[in-house]
Amino acid sequence: MKEGKERGHSMSECRIAVIASGRGSNFEALVKGDTGKGRIALLLTDNPDAPALDRASDLGVRCMYLHPGKYRTRFGIPEEENWVSALRDEGIELVCLAGLMRLLKGPMLKAFAYRIMNIHPALLPSFPGLESQKRALEYGVRFAGCTVHYVDEGTDTGPIITQAVIPVLADDTADTLSARILAEEHRIYPEAVRLHAAGRLTVEGRIVRIGPE
Ligand code: GRF
Repeated sequence: MKEGKERGHSMSECRIAVIASGRGSNFEALVKGDTGKGRIALLLTDNPDAPALDRASDLGVRCMYLHPGKYRTRFGIPEEENWVSALRDEGIELVCLAGLMRLLKGPMLKAFAYRIMNIHPALLPSFPGLESQKRALEYGVRFAGCTVHYVDEGTDTGPIITQAVIPVLADDTADTLSARILAEEHRIYPEAVRLHAAGRLTVEGRIVRIGPE
């Protein structure tokens, strides 16, 4: 990703693709939430059995399966190039990762610099990667939460757009904590998308500034 000042979208409509590998509750929250000028035009998946696909057909959102290639944790370069072409053909301006179980490493990051967002179920930079809620609980944190960030080459390391904080309760299990974090994810993800689609987000280095309406 390039360093320096980058601005989000600001024209009339911002066409958005969500990429999900699994359940798809954040995808649904984005479709149903207030994303302002942002419109969820497409659901992409690397998993033909993703329950997110059923949600998309219930919600009337078009779906596309794209082959991930031979790796388990990332995409092959030619496969990522295919994703870029598919997104460009569809006039997509913002990509929202929502439970994508593979890392983006090359062509996607270049083609959509500062135009790919991700939601992570922890207060980054703490607990990046998998099973964050369980690891936060086992670590003994008093507060947990979630983060929406732009995606860069690292794992959950990109510039932070917004976060929500919740207290950890004495009797929390990984499941109860995850459920309360998820409710916050569904609240802040559409909010971050709305800000981006309105052209209110500017990235300076790793600081995301939120401009006035
Ligand atoms: C969420 O917890 C999200 O933070 C993480 O993956 C999970 C996806 O859940 N990146 P869902 O598929 O959106 O229900």
